[in-house]
Amino acid sequence: MVRSRRYLEEELTRVTPNSRSQWERGKQSMPGGVIKGAYWSPPHPIYMDRAEGCHMWDLDGREYLDFEGHHTAMILGHNPKQIVDAVTNELGKGFGFGAPTSLEAEIAEEIISRVPSIEKIRFANSGTEASLHVTRLMRSVTGRHKIAKFEGAYHGSHDALEVSTAPALDRVGPIESPKSVAAQDGMSRVSEEDVVVIPYNRPEYMEKILRQHRDELAGVFYDPKAGIYDIPYDFARSVRSVTKDLDLLLVMDEIVSFRAGFSGYQCVSGVKPDLTVYGKIFGGGFPVGVIGGRADLMDLFDSSLETNKLGQSGTFSGNAFTLTAGLATLRCLTPEVYEHLNLLRSALHEGLVNVFNSAEIPCCVVSEGALLNLYITDQEVHDYREQSLVDKELFDRIGLELLLNGYYGWGGLGLSLSLPMKLSHIDEFLDTMSSILSR
Ligand SMILES: Cc1ncc(COP(=O)(O)O)c(C=O)c1O
Repeated sequence: MVRSRRYLEEELTRVTPNSRSQWERGKQSMPGGVIKGAYWSPPHPIYMDRAEGCHMWDLDGREYLDFEGHHTAMILGHNPKQIVDAVTNELGKGFGFGAPTSLEAEIAEEIISRVPSIEKIRFANSGTEASLHVTRLMRSVTGRHKIAKFEGAYHGSHDALEVSTAPALDRVGPIESPKSVAAQDGMSRVSEEDVVVIPYNRPEYMEKILRQHRDELAGVFYDPKAGIYDIPYDFARSVRSVTKDLDLLLVMDEIVSFRAGFSGYQCVSGVKPDLTVYGKIFGGGFPVGVIGGRADLMDLFDSSLETNKLGQSGTFSGNAFTLTAGLATLRCLTPEVYEHLNLLRSALHEGLVNVFNSAEIPCCVVSEGALLNLYITDQEVHDYREQSLVDKELFDRIGLELLLNGYYGWGGLGLSLSLPMKLSHIDEFLDTMSSILSR
């Protein structure tokens, strides 16, 4: 069986002394020793030194196959030539003009040509910012204040939506009417009041809740959880038809789910939202958030109009590197690239099911496009509550075994595939997993 947590943590500490001492150093100047909470993982974070293609090397010179892909952003892998060349060229021209450049229309046109629901776009610095600005737009255009979101969905770290992202199970209330639970201390007192929480995969409860709150609701935020929860396209279509029926705006959060296909999850599922937020991949590795959607809605941001009431700003929004790297990334992401990623993902999905079956460990694998999640459970995982019941202890120990064997990124948002990966990488990973589980 997989070795004990204590043994694995000691072994990882032994083979990564430079990461250990970096973390000890960091504790003097940063809370918990890390620059952001997501980087904390016991026994200490693994500090990276460099990356190339689908590999990263840590401060101790150990090599990892990278399944983390910078929180799913690096779909082309690390240092792809097209992006490095484009950004290097931009660097030579100077950066940060405080004035618009022609790059803006270029990337806007690229996105619009790719996704039929997008007629106009704006840039921000992160997915968080994009979802915050969209929330204001929804309220402004409808004159209604509440926003509905799904239990277990995360749309960024701001008071308007960081509600019921991962609530304790003893606080969630009944599935037919989930409670609204602020995710952090210190949030505004009205955060919980202003968010209506709806369950994934229960169309009847979703519709009932939306109908009940219809007069106060501006619209619905929908993260399709592609490759994360097992949600049929039909559910996404029912979210669209109910929101249309009730005259509620539908915002699709494609910050992760753009990994689903060439034009993102909305095209794979055949759902046309009113507005969409993007992030991650769209910055080609640089900080980014994108808001796009129907022109009549997006025009609310038009500050050339005297009637304009809705500002959308940010010193570094749409900075030259983000636009350059984002544009080059989108141009590289052809249908053939998605075909390759789908092939890898199917092999990984099937292989993991076989390896876990052979080891007689129950598993549920969910995958879509270039994203895959494995849960240790004999149940299907359709939503946050089902996800909360899976075996995390064994899962985490497998993660430590994988780190020791040179694989990074087990956990978090799941296994992110990248273009430089080949079927041989998947085969080697599956062989490693097989020997970990049968050890
Ligand atoms: C689905 C989803 N929406 C929004 C966000 C927030 O994006 P950012 O971290 O760029 O603020 C994330 C971040 O992981 C996300 O996964």
